[in-house]
Amino acid sequence: MTTQGDVLVSIQRIARRFGDVVALDDVSIDIRDNEFFALLGPSGCGKTTLLRVLAGFEEPDAGQVLLGDTDLLALPPHRRPVNLMFQSYALFPHMSVERNVAYGLEREGTAKAEVRTRVGEVLETVGLSELAKRRPSQLSGGQRQRVALARAIVKRPRLLLLDEPLSALDRKVRAEMQLELKRLQHDVGITFVVVTHDQEEAMSMADRIAVMHEGTVQQVDSPVDLYQRPSNLFVAQFIGTSNLFAGDAVTGGIRFAGRTLPGVVVGEPISGASRLLVRPEDTVLVEPRDALLSGRVIETQFFGGVSTVAITVAGHDVPVLLTRQGAPSAVRDAEVHLSWDPAKAVVLSA
Ligand SMILES: Nc1ncnc2c1ncn2[C@@H]1O[C@H](COP(=O)(O)OP(=O)(O)OP(=O)(O)O)[C@@H](O)[C@H]1O
Ligand SMILES: [Mg+2]
Repeated sequence: MTTQGDVLVSIQRIARRFGDVVALDDVSIDIRDNEFFALLGPSGCGKTTLLRVLAGFEEPDAGQVLLGDTDLLALPPHRRPVNLMFQSYALFPHMSVERNVAYGLEREGTAKAEVRTRVGEVLETVGLSELAKRRPSQLSGGQRQRVALARAIVKRPRLLLLDEPLSALDRKVRAEMQLELKRLQHDVGITFVVVTHDQEEAMSMADRIAVMHEGTVQQVDSPVDLYQRPSNLFVAQFIGTSNLFAGDAVTGGIRFAGRTLPGVVVGEPISGASRLLVRPEDTVLVEPRDALLSGRVIETQFFGGVSTVAITVAGHDVPVLLTRQGAPSAVRDAEVHLSWDPAKAVVLSA
């Protein structure tokens, strides 16, 4: 295992359009060595196009990509120390697991003994040693996914690009594989760039995430910073659940229903129409004299570990959500009083 550090790949001002569609619009991202990096965004925002640019299957209209000191875009795909695992990974059905994994190395003319050693090691890493002789049709979806991963890492790329690697798996296997993928990245010490449109998946795996929207990068940050300090409304709504109060920005918060709701501004000063972001778990019930807002409980839900209370508040057109550990803290129809720590509420420009 090595540690994360210097920039490995520097993506600089990449643009790519297809006719009228701007797939990538001035995209700049630095990916660090040995990082687990995620590209997250809704369908059509340009994630696959960016991976294809890095892998060499798509030529950008403008911009450059440096890998260390090397101009990556000047190299043909097969000369790049980069491997792309496609959105739908195709295994050879007539070959055993070990032959599937060995195939790429054999084609490069790697010596037989070395192929055997490396395939053995990689199958061990992904936990498939016992199944080496099986055909893909004799494997579960999760096991097939592991074969595809083994095939991608056996060539020891500097950079492994994975396009929706877990999308073919059902929910439970998917959760297991998220942990597995993270462990694997840690063990093999290869920089991973994983594409997903599932925010929980990105949050649970990645060291850092680039949130994309319509071909542009909205924010690049750690999962915690994206969640607690989104830099705009798109990121705030895309990551997690939020209460968003609408009003004009004023010193120390926003003006809402004749009072000031407190929050902080991150970055540039904000004026005019704004939203105040308060996460449900930061919203708490208080005594009337300490209340920032009051309302009535319309619904409570208990999920075992956590519970949610939905509250109608005058002047706010959707229920305010409050979550907490354990059982609900209020009952339906109760009059309740709300507050939050102003340092945890964020003012965002509307
Ligand atoms: N070869 C192409 N010709 C024309 N348009 C394309 C081509 N490839 C991509 N696009 C368009 O570029 C935009 C970005 O596509 P891309 O495949 O990068 O999105 P994505 O973020 O990977 O989406 P998804 O999550 O659905 O896979 C889309 O509007 C898509 O229709
Ligand atoms: Mg895609």
